[in-house]
Amino acid sequence: MKKNQSIVIGNWKMNPQTLVEAKRIVTKTKTVARTLEHTLVVACPPFPFVSLVASKRNSGASGNRVHAGVQNAFFEEQGAYTGEVSTHMLADIGVEYVIVGHSERRARGETDVEVSKKVAAVTQSGMTAVLCVGETVRDAQGAYLNTLREQIKASLQAFPKRQLSQLIIAYEPVWAIGAKEAMTPVLVREMVIFVKKVISDTYGQEEALAVPVLYGGSVNFRNAADIMTEGHVDGFLVGRESVNVPGFIELIKVVDAVSAKK
Ligand code: PGA
Repeated sequence: MKKNQSIVIGNWKMNPQTLVEAKRIVTKTKTVARTLEHTLVVACPPFPFVSLVASKRNSGASGNRVHAGVQNAFFEEQGAYTGEVSTHMLADIGVEYVIVGHSERRARGETDVEVSKKVAAVTQSGMTAVLCVGETVRDAQGAYLNTLREQIKASLQAFPKRQLSQLIIAYEPVWAIGAKEAMTPVLVREMVIFVKKVISDTYGQEEALAVPVLYGGSVNFRNAADIMTEGHVDGFLVGRESVNVPGFIELIKVVDAVSAKK
């Protein structure tokens, strides 16, 4: 990642409900994304709408467009896995980013072991894994830090150093997702340092500093600038605001303006 570049990843979750609406979001977002010089914009729509952003022709080219992402993928290569989608299929249609281990999936039973297999499958297929981590609750004694450390380590079990350039960490405190307020910039800053420390303990400091760490949890165009500057994040994983066109457009413009000054 370049010094003055940031990443904004839109996690559309199970929205919107129609193809027409999905097209509208993509078209409007593209119009603005192509004017930005310091922000890489990724949209992760639900599978039925992925072709609106994924295109083999585009994949790999940097900047000035909306990059294609998805919200999940399966770790097995192929076969009798009803309802699953392989990383090879996704890479083949031009998907570049895969969100892995989102708390809403972990809450429905996805384990660290499965997450680690997914991270491996995504990167082996040549895409970038956006690994979501974050504590569910914070306790006064700081036990959540241990929980987070263990979650990161287990989610990256056996992940090789040579593939770190295909990894993005999205730190998302679960209690701040879908909430009224985001985490305060000061706390975000502490947590970004902590996440980098955990990565550095395993892979080395230089390598850890190169892994982008995003913040996610109730980000919008109003709080984005402060979280970026004071929180020292490399960008955002955005839920609700990513399907709210006016808000998302404002958000990516704000991020771009802040990144230009980095
Ligand atoms: P939110 O979701 O921005 O709606 O809080 C973030 C996420 O779940 O990634």
